[in-house]
Amino acid sequence: MISLVRLAALPALSALLLTLASCGGSSPLGNPSTVSNPTQTSNQSLSFAYFQRCINPIFLAQLQIQLNGTTVTNTCSGAGCHAYATGAGGALRIVPTAQVIDVTNPANTPTVIQASDMYKNFLSAQAEVVIGSPTLSLLENKPLNRGVLHGGGLVFASDTDPHIVLMNFWITNPEPSGQDEFSSANYATLFSNGDPVNGTCNTQ
Ligand code: HEM
Repeated sequence: MISLVRLAALPALSALLLTLASCGGSSPLGNPSTVSNPTQTSNQSLSFAYFQRCINPIFLAQLQIQLNGTTVTNTCSGAGCHAYATGAGGALRIVPTAQVIDVTNPANTPTVIQASDMYKNFLSAQAEVVIGSPTLSLLENKPLNRGVLHGGGLVFASDTDPHIVLMNFWITNPEPSGQDEFSSANYATLFSNGDPVNGTCNTQ
């Protein structure tokens, strides 16, 4: 025999289900709405040449950082931070001693570069980026504390900081679709005189 309490709850339960149905929610007992997961249409890459000439030096620079209310001087690739071997900095791993590679020397084939420490740094930094979208990229959002906390404190005060301006340009100027990270197709866009070895880093 159904208890009186249960009998009393029936109208409330049916009222709740009706309310959920009326505000477009499917029954709480139903399946959640499908999550959109668009197929990756392009496998675009960022520029390796621009990374090593313009972005990797940011990770080696002595920076004034606001950490727990005090100003400290440190490098992003510092031992306790993002150093590849010893850092506590999550997935961003930087080899501080990575050597610059002459990308114009034909002996430095993609296979040779892919075996290098500089390439490890490139892959790790690129993994913290949503290509084409600086404001969705942890590489910027963490040191800016933009919508996220950062174990390393506030590294850059605003997105007009010259280091962030360089990151912005790298993130918004990927290799042309279908070209890999070693393409020289957009050197004229990335470097003054189109020179990846001695040219200055373009930022606009
Ligand atoms: C330009 C300099 C820096 C950049 C670009 C940077 C960027 C990042 C990024 C992208 C992450 C998230 C990694 C993940 O996905 O797991 C992160 C985490 C972290 N960083 Fe940094 N960081 C910088 C400087 C520092 C410094 C100087 C320190 C040490 C004082 C530091 C300590 C940490 C720690 C402990 C974490 C892990 C905790 C967390 O996710 O916030 N970082 N940083």
